[in-house]
Amino acid sequence: MQNIVILTGAGISAESGLKTFRAEDGLWENHPVEEVATPEGFARDPDLVQRFYDDRRAQIRAAKPNAAHEALGRLDREWGGELLLVTQNIDDLHERGGAGRLLHMHGEALSAWCRACDARHSWERTLRDGPPCPACGAAALRPDIVWFGEMPYQMERIFSAIAQADLFVSIGTSGAVYPAAGFVQEAARVGAHTLELNLERSAGSGFFDETRLGPASALVPQWVEQVLAK
Ligand code: APR
Repeated sequence: MQNIVILTGAGISAESGLKTFRAEDGLWENHPVEEVATPEGFARDPDLVQRFYDDRRAQIRAAKPNAAHEALGRLDREWGGELLLVTQNIDDLHERGGAGRLLHMHGEALSAWCRACDARHSWERTLRDGPPCPACGAAALRPDIVWFGEMPYQMERIFSAIAQADLFVSIGTSGAVYPAAGFVQEAARVGAHTLELNLERSAGSGFFDETRLGPASALVPQWVEQVLAK
């Protein structure tokens, strides 16, 4: 076993106190997707959308990585083969848990993107008051988030990693949102072993060779231990 691709979702950060999207008290309960997570919603009411992501940014800054993030950081340090950690999460808990071979396919809450000059900037403050872009000065910064109807980042790199994968592991994601939800089928097609670690069965659970159910803070460290012991 040499090449590992891992996909993570909101469930891995739940035990750090960050809400998932589709739980009963999840983010999409009180914030309709079309209002806060589409380009059309942003055009209609930018202040509402900036406020939603200002809140996300503040909560992320106050959260700490949990045992699952730390275990993936350890795996990244100790695994000699290829590894790519693809996260749908916009928080920075994987980075703070020590993961380096990481990409954020749905963008990052702590990044701002200038619609005028296309520059991206690390961003911890509010975007609500229309701050100038540090590169061009235009008041055109938006959250660097991939909204519904927009193209996720780095798809070519992700699919080429999956094409070489021996093991594909999905952690803490409901499998409701494509293209991420389809990665398991692609991994199975190229002959990778597929493993799901989640609190409950995801929408695509039937496509996995193996499913382990439980909280990420328990399942992920156990699995990492097992992989590194081989
Ligand atoms: N440990 C493991 N899994 C958990 C835990 C936990 N402690 N808590 C919740 N989960 C699982 C839930 O059972 C659920 O299957 O995490 C999953 C979270 O699902 P979603 O809320 O749908 O989050 P996610 O799959 O990341 O959403 C995908 O949807 O709106 C978009 O862009 C947003 O990236 C997000 C995408």
